[in-house]
Amino acid sequence: MAIDARVYQTTLALSHAVADAIVDAADKAITTRGRFTIALSGGSSPKPLYEMLATREYAEAINWNFTHVFWGDERCVPKDHHDSNYHMARESLLNRVKIPISNMYRIEGEREPAQAAERYEAVLRDFFGKRANTRQARFDVLLLGIGTDGHIASLFPGQSGVRETEKWVVAQHIEGASVTPDRVTLTPVALNAAANIFFVVTGEDKVPALRRIFNDPANPDELPAQAIQPTNGIVRWYLDAAAGKALHPPPT
Ligand code: 6PG
Repeated sequence: MAIDARVYQTTLALSHAVADAIVDAADKAITTRGRFTIALSGGSSPKPLYEMLATREYAEAINWNFTHVFWGDERCVPKDHHDSNYHMARESLLNRVKIPISNMYRIEGEREPAQAAERYEAVLRDFFGKRANTRQARFDVLLLGIGTDGHIASLFPGQSGVRETEKWVVAQHIEGASVTPDRVTLTPVALNAAANIFFVVTGEDKVPALRRIFNDPANPDELPAQAIQPTNGIVRWYLDAAAGKALHPPPT
């Protein structure tokens, strides 16, 4: 299947491209359905994008009153912990735009992981279930990164979450995971319901995983990024020049 991958020479150009796509999706969603939903990814790659979205050029281009922000996953730490994905997004973007606090739906990382997952699933089912025709967690935009092992959100190789077929949110305990072993994550059920899935991947260290994701036979258990097969949506890869090397064969 053809991969929609776009390569940018600088982080600035990459951030502008993704920010433009988000503004476009927001404008269309709010115009047609009166609201825009976006699920943010964590880690370090999206931070320049979030800071870009907080600049006047973009902050004023999105109607934050009708924008609802979710998270694709969370580390099980307090919300003001430096490893919290919520904390990172608040600091780099959400504290700097006029979004109502009630439009931000954080995963309660401070709770017992299974309870946090159940509560977040209830939040999503309540939010999305109110529109009878969308019995799915259908985010207008879902942002994802990938780990060097091909993980997405907190769906790691060999873990149960990759194979989940009913729940929208699960807790995962990943021994050896960077930062904290306890995570809460959306499952492929929720991720694949999204309308626009934007991978934002930077750095040469992601090239081996990208090459496997793009070229190896489907094996989501080993490469969770390959679990991303939206039922009714698009997948687009935004890569910087270093990660973009994955689109070319390795040097002989
Ligand atoms: C997280 C993210 C995770 C991230 C990848 C890439 O909570 O850490 O959701 O899936 O996207 O690990 O992280 P970097 O962007 O920091 O390389």
